[in-house]
Amino acid sequence: MEGAGQRGRFIAIEGIDGAGKGVQSRALVDWLRRLPLEVLHTREPGGAPGAEEIRQLLVTGAAARWDSMTELLLVYAARRNHLTQTIWPALAQGQWVVSDRFADSSRAFQGVAGGLGLAVVEQMHALVVGDFAPDLTIVLDLDPAVALARTERRGGAEDRFEKKGLSYQTRVREGFRELALRSPQTHLLIDAAQSMEQVTSALLEAVAERLQLQQERA
Ligand code: TMP
Repeated sequence: MEGAGQRGRFIAIEGIDGAGKGVQSRALVDWLRRLPLEVLHTREPGGAPGAEEIRQLLVTGAAARWDSMTELLLVYAARRNHLTQTIWPALAQGQWVVSDRFADSSRAFQGVAGGLGLAVVEQMHALVVGDFAPDLTIVLDLDPAVALARTERRGGAEDRFEKKGLSYQTRVREGFRELALRSPQTHLLIDAAQSMEQVTSALLEAVAERLQLQQERA
């Protein structure tokens, strides 16, 4: 049981655009709440008022609006605001935090696909975040062509990264896969090509085992 003063756990859900993060993280949050745990569901870029303003700069407009280094500066400004205003206070109160995206997105998007390299992202990360890291990072892995078709159906103005195209999203996917495979003790790679229900049950089973949670009581 989580008691007062105990630090909550931090779970990040990652994947290329259209991999199903929204649906799956909602399912995870609902399940954790039924255990019952107190859970804060948040997202990046965003998750605090200032960070949400920075999000708008990042995800709208022309693909060439920002180069990769400017993106990195913006996502880390947003992340610092998100950590100090939202994530760290919640964990300190013993809440669990589930975030749609966290630092692996910067590694995969700006570091790998955007060409900055992982070493540059790690330097920025050390400066802004220090050694704080998710207890568990779940990567939803999906063919970028399938994922892009989903995001096109969805539409909306937050499509700046999707506009970078299939080859960019393919590099993002490879970045995520490598990060997950390199750190199996902190990452879970889940095949998101299965049906929504199959992905959810694979995810919940793996989280329960990893974080040693009791399966839902009937
Ligand atoms: P979302 O559509 O999953 O909410 O994310 C918005 C976009 O932000 C997504 O296309 C990926 C991008 N992004 C980065 O490029 N770097 C980051 O560090 C984060 C958190 C998001």
